[in-house]
Amino acid sequence: MLLAHPWAGQAQSAGQWQNADHLYTKICGNCHDSGVGPLITGRDFKPEHYVEVVRHGNKAMPAFRITEIDDATLQALAKQLAEVPPDTASDGKSGGKP
Ligand code: HEC
Repeated sequence: MLLAHPWAGQAQSAGQWQNADHLYTKICGNCHDSGVGPLITGRDFKPEHYVEVVRHGNKAMPAFRITEIDDATLQALAKQLAEVPPDTASDGKSGGKP
């Protein structure tokens, strides 16, 4: 199952993330760039929406605690994802193109 992820073997303490990109590539991208989760960029979400979903989860979307993703990195990622304009999203699959 997806829970046996590469990150499971890493140190699980807050502050383990080098930056938001690192976090996205190691965690979010596993699902959101592979078609497991929906496209999450270019959808006009507010940064707060990302934080909310990541902290609380939503159905198949797992919740992440502060010991897994520290606040600073999560905030930075949320801001970064919120700023991606439509159609330059990483996979462009469901970006609304005809
Ligand atoms: C294990 C797979 C998985 C991982 C890892 C994951 N997600 Fe998700 N995510 C999902 C799935 C599946 C959904 C759709 C949930 C639903 O609505 O059923 C989702 C939904 C979301 C949504 C809501 C999209 C909407 O339409 O409102 C956001 C925002 C989101 N994820 C952000 C993130 C971020 C940021 C990360 C990294 C910190 C992340 N996810 C990591 C699987 C994942």
